[in-house]
Amino acid sequence: MIRIPRGTQDILPEASSQWRYIENKLDELMTLYNYKEIRTPIFESTDLFARGVGDSTDVVQKEMYTFKDKGDRSITLRPEGTAAVVRSYIENKMQGNPNQPIKLYYNGPMFRYERKQKGRYRQFNQFGVEAIGAENPSIDAEVLAMVMHIYESFGLKHLKLVINSIGDADSRKEYNEALVKHFEPVIDTFCEDCQSRLHSNPMRILDCKVDRDKEAVKNAPRITDYLNSESKAYYEEVKDYLDELGINYVEDPNLVRGLDYYTHTAFELMMDNPNYDGAITTLCGGGRYNGLLELLDGPSQTGIGFALSIERLLLALEEEGIELDVEDDFDLFIVTMGEEAERYSVKLLNNLRKHGVKADKDYLNRKIKGQMKQADRLNAKYTVVIGDQELENNQIDVKNMATGESETVKLDELVNFFEK
Ligand code: HAM
Repeated sequence: MIRIPRGTQDILPEASSQWRYIENKLDELMTLYNYKEIRTPIFESTDLFARGVGDSTDVVQKEMYTFKDKGDRSITLRPEGTAAVVRSYIENKMQGNPNQPIKLYYNGPMFRYERKQKGRYRQFNQFGVEAIGAENPSIDAEVLAMVMHIYESFGLKHLKLVINSIGDADSRKEYNEALVKHFEPVIDTFCEDCQSRLHSNPMRILDCKVDRDKEAVKNAPRITDYLNSESKAYYEEVKDYLDELGINYVEDPNLVRGLDYYTHTAFELMMDNPNYDGAITTLCGGGRYNGLLELLDGPSQTGIGFALSIERLLLALEEEGIELDVEDDFDLFIVTMGEEAERYSVKLLNNLRKHGVKADKDYLNRKIKGQMKQADRLNAKYTVVIGDQELENNQIDVKNMATGESETVKLDELVNFFEK
């Protein structure tokens, strides 16, 4: 038997209606913040991620689904959305649009070859936003407020917002030098990846899944001690806005994020449910990326954004025992008796549906009792039974399944009845 690939899942109809509920709600929230949807390809040129996300990140080194297409081009299934959105901003010359910042959101599958775990998939669905074209602490605060608004609007309460600043390029240059100095004497005890990243990208050592618990990582120099005055001032302003907005956060000077493009504000939203027993608690992550556009040969614009996966949002909802108010209402089930009624019901159904009535019938020649059971299973609000007599009299009883009451209606006016 051929099975589903490891780390992927089928979203079956019942779950699918929850997904749709979540996606509709996210769409709605985006209109409040004036973000517009963008759809970029599921695959991109490998260079985009190698350059944008960073050659020495785990995502690029270990997790990408990369292949050669028939034209011998190196193609990668997108592992994240930011690089692609920035590529599109540049390629479509969005900087020429006077409406800066350009506020965009996206929602779609991403692919990372990671170890499967509760909350971690190889194909997962990211919803993300990117605000490109403004460097202003108020938009950083807006993005953070939006993150909280999203999760709270689903009724989630056990949340912890963790923030940090990883400063501008100058601050990071000094910081990287301090990291190299700190790790050099002990680097032999670290994994091969860390060893090779010591000089090329020492910040990645702080983010290493293998060496995370080493003493030298725990007492490594902190970026916050290396922020220059501009970076410090920017960070302070972001925090002031958060305080004014009444948004709770904790600061973690070790939060560096796993992708290379971040500058200044970096953040993650964590599940903070004391009873949760899974290893993965990060629901959402993001930050500011001031150098990314230029790195991808674009204009000197800056951006900020975040992404969350719907899988982990669902996990958090499950953990907090929150049921979504998913509508699965169904209007009418037609029970038929006899061949003529069956024939009539095909046309009737066709007509009803064209008038916006959600309706169905039996297709398995079930007995009346079986058909009624089917109506129950579908949670139909109404049922009608059509037989020879109903056809002859042009009259039908419409039964309200919730109250058990019936109303007699002319058969050829059934569509009108439901339209009303
Ligand atoms: P990221 O932290 O790599 O950031 O991923 C963001 C979110 O995607 C995570 O917090 C998590 O909810 C979800 N996620 C990541 N990997 C998996 C997985 N294997 N299975 C399930 N969910 C996963 C980014 O991707 C950045 N592009 C975010 C961003 C946007 N930064 C600025 N703008």
